[in-house]
Amino acid sequence: MAALAEYLVFAKKLAHHAGVMMLEARQSSTFESDYKSGHELVTSVDIAVDDYLCSQIREQYPEHDIFSEESTPDLLICGENSAPVWVIDPIDGTVNFAHGLPHVAVSIGLYINGKRQLGVVEAPFLGQTYWAVLGSGAYCNDEKISVSNQENLRNALVATGFPYRKETLTELVPKVGRILEHCQDVRRNGSAALDLCAVAHGFMDAYYESVKPWDMAAGAIIAEEAGASIGHFGDIRKEWPEALNGDCLLVSTPKIYEQLASLLK
Ligand code: IPD
Ligand code: CA
Ligand code: CA
Repeated sequence: MAALAEYLVFAKKLAHHAGVMMLEARQSSTFESDYKSGHELVTSVDIAVDDYLCSQIREQYPEHDIFSEESTPDLLICGENSAPVWVIDPIDGTVNFAHGLPHVAVSIGLYINGKRQLGVVEAPFLGQTYWAVLGSGAYCNDEKISVSNQENLRNALVATGFPYRKETLTELVPKVGRILEHCQDVRRNGSAALDLCAVAHGFMDAYYESVKPWDMAAGAIIAEEAGASIGHFGDIRKEWPEALNGDCLLVSTPKIYEQLASLLK
């Protein structure tokens, strides 16, 4: 098996090219928009970037698995002895992308035996490339980053997000209310991957949301390597190993984690 350093170089190359595809598509305004499952926005750029990433991975590592939002969202990942799995979100922040907003990223994570190995999150409109490899810290544009030293919940800035489906909003609104009441403020930037990186970088003190594996696969290891506490504030589904499970995801500075978890229960 190739070393993680080799996988990182490969993932960064892919993320960079994906970023260029997004920049060019926005510049030329040539993309089309559609809705999948009736309510979830998807653009032709999501599909083109997904195609590019998957074909590159298949060519370079034909024995690896790919778990990608747009082409293989039903791949079930069990635990032990599986091949390395690349977990891809071609565009995280599709709604932002379609509206011309900057919080948009490509997210590439690698898992082996159900464990996080590396993550790359590239935000082309912000000029930021976040990455981390297991045991080696987290970086933004090759500068080492770490979580804030926030200890006081009252001063904590908390990121969150909301699902496309509106049915669960009644359950989510009281949670946001409790967070707003006990923390400094709440931000909804529209990219789970970048919310995780914002916690890793110390710009935000916490992030919570229920998301899919591809939304958090890369950002989770970046946040973890930057010193964040990471876990779940509620029950999680059995389909995915815990490390790749975005159900009830909570990430924060270590000192405020337990308080946030009890507010969100
Ligand atoms: C979405 C973004 C958003 C989060 C949603 C995700 P997409 O991903 O990460 O911030 O709130 O839950 O689905 O659809 O832009 O890839
Ligand atoms: Ca996403
Ligand atoms: Ca996406």
